[in-house]
Amino acid sequence: MLAIGSDHAGYGLKLEVIKYLDEKGISFTDVGCNGESCDYPDIAKALCEKIVNGECSKGILICGTGIGMSMAANKVHGIRAALCSDYFSAKYTRLHNDANVICLGARTIGPGLALELVDVFLNTEFEGGRHQRRIDIFKKIEEEN
Ligand code: RB5
Repeated sequence: MLAIGSDHAGYGLKLEVIKYLDEKGISFTDVGCNGESCDYPDIAKALCEKIVNGECSKGILICGTGIGMSMAANKVHGIRAALCSDYFSAKYTRLHNDANVICLGARTIGPGLALELVDVFLNTEFEGGRHQRRIDIFKKIEEEN
């Protein structure tokens, strides 16, 4: 299952992404907001908890820049959130970083690019191998801190 969330600044783009997911038949759970003013770390926390507890395997977080969401999401152990605004990064953060959350900035990219980034993020598998060794170091850092 996929999770999606946004703050008020990301809400319009979230609706575009939801329309795309519906068209593709991709199931998702929406952790909010519903357009009202809110605090993006609360949304990031709600979404990331669904990933670390196994309810969801990947997530999409949208705020004005994507920066606040990515900062908050990466505070949760087990989350590898990538702020992406180009196709190459969205692809390689799956191939090499095994990113489980993509963060998008509704005020920095348009809906056309956002949907391309979501598509490649959802459809690219982690390469593993030497990259798994590096992901394992993330876990060690989390345990030590
Ligand atoms: C909300 O105005 C804005 O600060 C938020 O959406 C985000 O861009 C923070 O990083």
